[in-house]
Amino acid sequence: MSGVTPVSAILLFGATGDLAQRMLLPSLYGLDESDLLPDDLVIIGTARNPLNDTAFQAAARTALEHHVAAERLIPERVARFLQRLRYVAVDVTDPGQFQHLPRAVGETGRGLAIFLSTAPSLFGVTIAGLAAAGLTGAEVRLALEKPLGDDLASSRMINDLVADLFPEPRIFRIDHYLGKETVQNLLALRFANILFEPMWNAGGVDHIQITVSETVGLEGRVGFYDRAGALRDMVQNHMLQLLALVAMEPPSSFNATSVRDDKVKVLRSLRRLDAATVPTHTVIGQYQTGAIAGGLVPGYRDELGGPSETETFVALKAHVDNWRWKGVPFYLRTGKRLPTRHSEIFIQFKPVPHSIFHGVAVEANKLVIRLQPQENIRLLMMSKQPGLDRDGIRLQEVPLDLGLTNVFAETRRRIAYERLLLDLIEGDPTLFVRRDEVEAQWDWIDAIRAGWRANSMAPKPYAAGTWGPSAAIGLTERDGVSWHD
Ligand code: BG6
Repeated sequence: MSGVTPVSAILLFGATGDLAQRMLLPSLYGLDESDLLPDDLVIIGTARNPLNDTAFQAAARTALEHHVAAERLIPERVARFLQRLRYVAVDVTDPGQFQHLPRAVGETGRGLAIFLSTAPSLFGVTIAGLAAAGLTGAEVRLALEKPLGDDLASSRMINDLVADLFPEPRIFRIDHYLGKETVQNLLALRFANILFEPMWNAGGVDHIQITVSETVGLEGRVGFYDRAGALRDMVQNHMLQLLALVAMEPPSSFNATSVRDDKVKVLRSLRRLDAATVPTHTVIGQYQTGAIAGGLVPGYRDELGGPSETETFVALKAHVDNWRWKGVPFYLRTGKRLPTRHSEIFIQFKPVPHSIFHGVAVEANKLVIRLQPQENIRLLMMSKQPGLDRDGIRLQEVPLDLGLTNVFAETRRRIAYERLLLDLIEGDPTLFVRRDEVEAQWDWIDAIRAGWRANSMAPKPYAAGTWGPSAAIGLTERDGVSWHD
C-alpha cells in the first residue's frame, strides 16, 4: 500500500502454538520470500516455553519445512527470514516477565505490530503487561485472533478491555476468511461488473445458499471445539462475513470505513431467530462413526472421549430484513466430517417471467462462487442444444465458467494470512473486523443459542461422510429448495 508506514517489529504471542507454526510463520516467510517485508523488520516470538533465539529459529525452520512447498524454500531466503527471528520467554500471568520485551523489541519508532494468538482468557493480563512495559503507545497496532469471546457479553468484555489501551483504528481483529482471494473477489464481481447488480436483490434472486463443508473432525482441538461448536466456530464469524459481503449495499469506496459500514448494516438487518422460530429455522447435528474418502473414522464422542451435546453441524435459514432482500431466504450450512471440503456461495436467480418454449423445461440461472478448494465462478445458463429441432427445440443448462485458476495461472495464490499479515504490517484495516460487526454477529448468534436452550434442542446424529442429519434436507425442501452439493 502506498502512503502508510510499515512497522519495524512484530511481537507474536503464542509463537510456539499451532497457528503460528502452521500459518503465521509460513505466511511471514512467504512475504519475505517475495521481498515484501521491510528490510529491517524483526519478528519477536514469545510464549511460556523457555527457548532462546536459536531454538526458536530451529523450530521455525521445521515449521517452514512442514508447511511451505519445497520449491519455495530457497536456502538464502530461509536464512534471511530466520535471521529476523528473536525469542523472549514470557509467562503472561507473571507481570514481571514483560520487562524483558522492550529491549528485544528495540526502537519502535516506525511502529510495532503485536499479534495475540493466545487464548482470549489471557488477553487481559497480556494487555496489562504490555501497558506496564510501555508497549501500547500510539505507534503500536494490536491484532487479535479468534475466538473473541464466546457470546456477546464476553466479546464486549474483551473489546472494552482492549479499547482501554488501543483505539479502534489500531485494533486488527482477524477473520481469516477475509484474507481469502475469492472472498475479496466477491466485491470485484459485484461492484466492478454491471451485469449482476441490477438482479442482485429480491426482484432477481430466489434464494442464496452458503456452504462451508469440511471433512476433518476434531483435529485434536478437544478442549476448544467442544466448548464452541459449529455455530460459534464457523457461523458467528466466517459465514456471517460471507453473508455480509454477498448482501451488502455498494460501499461508497473500497476503504476500511465504507466497506465495514455497509457490512455492519447487513449484520444488523439479520432477522432475529427466537425460541419460537429456532426449531423450524435451524438444524444441528453431531457426527457418528462413518466413512470419509473410503476410510472409517470415529464418531465425535469417541474422538472426544466422552459424552457431549456440542453440534458439529449446523444448517439454518436466515433473512436480511431490508429493502433489497425482502423475502429472500439465506440458507447457511457448515459442518465437520461432511463428504467433501468445499466452501461456496450459491445464488439461485428467479425463473424467467414467461417461457416462450412451451413444454420445455427452462431452468432458472444460478451463480456458483466456489471459494475453495479451487476458486471458480460459474454461471449456469440455458442454451439451445444444437440440431434441426424437428421435434421441437431442446434446451440445456450449460456452465459459463470463469476458471480463475487458469486465467491467473501465473499468479501465485497466497494463503489468507499472508494478505492479512501484510495489511497489518502496513496498517490497512479494510480486511479486519470492526467492533460493531463482531458485536452484531454475536447478538444474532446468542439469540439462536438461547432458542436452542429454551427448546432443549440436542444435535441429531449423522454418519461421518454424509451431509448432516436428514432434517437439514427438510429445512430447504420445505421451501421447495435443494442444497447445492
Ligand atoms: C477456523 C475454525 O476458524 O476455520 C476451524 O476454527 C475450521 O474449525 C477453519 O476448520 C476452516 O478454515 P479454512 O480456511 O480451512 O476453511
